[in-house]
Amino acid sequence: MDNKEFCLRGEMSTEDEGIEQLAISVICVKLIQIMAKQGITILILLGYIRVAIFTTSLPTCPSECLCLSQTQVLCNSGGLVEIPLKKFPPTVEHLSLTRNSFSLIKSDTFSGLRQLRKLSLDGNNISLIKPFAFRGLPKLRDLSIQHTPLKTVSPFAFAGLQNISTIYLSYNKIKSVEGYAFAGTTNLKLLVLSHNPLIVLESNAFTGITEVERIALPSGIKVLEPDCFNGLDTLGHMQLAFMDLRSLKRGIFRGFTNVKYLSIQESDLGVIEGDAFDDMTYVRSLNFLNNKIDSIQWLNWTWEQHIGHVRFQGNHILEIPKPETLLIEVEKLTVVSNHFPCDCHLHSLLAGPLANGSIVNFISKNYCISPLEVNGMYMNNIDIESIARCEEVTKENLEASPSSSNSAQKLENLCSYLNILLYLLKLFRIT
Ligand SMILES: *[C@@H]1O[C@H](CO)[C@@H](O)[C@H](O)[C@H]1NC(C)=O
Ligand SMILES: *[C@@H]1O[C@H](CO)[C@@H](O)[C@H](O)[C@H]1NC(C)=O
Ligand SMILES: *[C@@H]1O[C@H](CO)[C@@H](O)[C@H](O)[C@H]1NC(C)=O
Ligand SMILES: *[C@@H]1O[C@H](CO)[C@@H](O)[C@H](O)[C@H]1NC(C)=O
Repeated sequence: MDNKEFCLRGEMSTEDEGIEQLAISVICVKLIQIMAKQGITILILLGYIRVAIFTTSLPTCPSECLCLSQTQVLCNSGGLVEIPLKKFPPTVEHLSLTRNSFSLIKSDTFSGLRQLRKLSLDGNNISLIKPFAFRGLPKLRDLSIQHTPLKTVSPFAFAGLQNISTIYLSYNKIKSVEGYAFAGTTNLKLLVLSHNPLIVLESNAFTGITEVERIALPSGIKVLEPDCFNGLDTLGHMQLAFMDLRSLKRGIFRGFTNVKYLSIQESDLGVIEGDAFDDMTYVRSLNFLNNKIDSIQWLNWTWEQHIGHVRFQGNHILEIPKPETLLIEVEKLTVVSNHFPCDCHLHSLLAGPLANGSIVNFISKNYCISPLEVNGMYMNNIDIESIARCEEVTKENLEASPSSSNSAQKLENLCSYLNILLYLLKLFRIT
């Protein structure tokens, strides 16, 4: 035991230890008085007593670390390769192990630190977290593993953290969250996965997180597997942004119940398949903001699903859904600042449930995406009556001579296609 080192640490100690030191000094003085009476050299004794008292009252501290107190230990940039579990004071509550060289977090790595409340492993070379890595930490509330090369969150990696409240996993290289990664983290309130190259959300990725308030996901998600949100029973806030999907498929929202706020935004949603929302119930606020939507097969939101306020805002919808395919039984519907093609289907859009009877309001708040000459204009700035209805268009087509009308039609199709392309480029450059 290095006496000098302890003295040094003593100087950096917190208030609690200051009091302890004071007490030690008082004891020292008393002992010295007694000893002095007995005629023993004071100086030697002082040294002995110090060693004796420190060895018994203060536990060890790994030499790479700074034990600010018996509850707070910092081992930052210590060059540690192994976690010196045995050398930590068992009373430690805050442990920071940032910027060391751990590459693997084995099962039960921290068991024994039963008082631990906050743990940071940021900036390590962690490539794998084994199942039950954090078992035996009943009081752990905050866990941070950021800026590491971690690629996957494997099953049961965080299992058993029954009192965890926040897990920060941003700025890693996480490509997939596997099923049951968070099993048993029943008290988790905040999960941050932003700034990861996450492509796939696997089925049951969040199973076990029953009371989470917020999950922050990164941009660029390409695949939402069915049941990927299964088990999120009482989610407060969920934002799904910057996704690049081919379609919204059936089953992806299965298990989405009692969600206060769900926002799907700034994403390419591809085709919204009719049964995508079948399994969603009790969503208070459902938002589609600034997405590109190729088409909507059908929508079927019924009263039994108890969907509150649905907001469509700022979306580019490349094909007007047929009104007979839309059943929108929700408490409130807001459709503003969207872009629709102003083609022959516009009439049925205005008569259908998306406009919900308030045509004047609808056309003053939504835009045309095509044809080219009206691109970006409010619908109320164009002469809607002059747009032929679809039935008429088909009739005209039938009547017109095939050769001329065909080439004209083709040209127009090409134009609107280019137009849409232009719009998408604009949209995604902005976002
Ligand atoms: C990080 O870990 C990998 C293997 O997991 C190893 O190849 C690499 O050398 C390590 N890098 C550093 C800086 O320790
Ligand atoms: C979990 O956290 C709560 C709130 O901080 C606390 O009351 C409870 O004792 C903790 N449970 C355990 C096992 O430490
Ligand atoms: C919508 O859902 C209701 C009730 O589940 C069902 O009866 C109806 O056929 C569905 N409509 C469509 C277009 O799927
Ligand atoms: C549609 O309009 C009717 C009549 O104005 C209104 O009572 C109803 O709440 C509206 N529906 C939605 C979903 O906003």
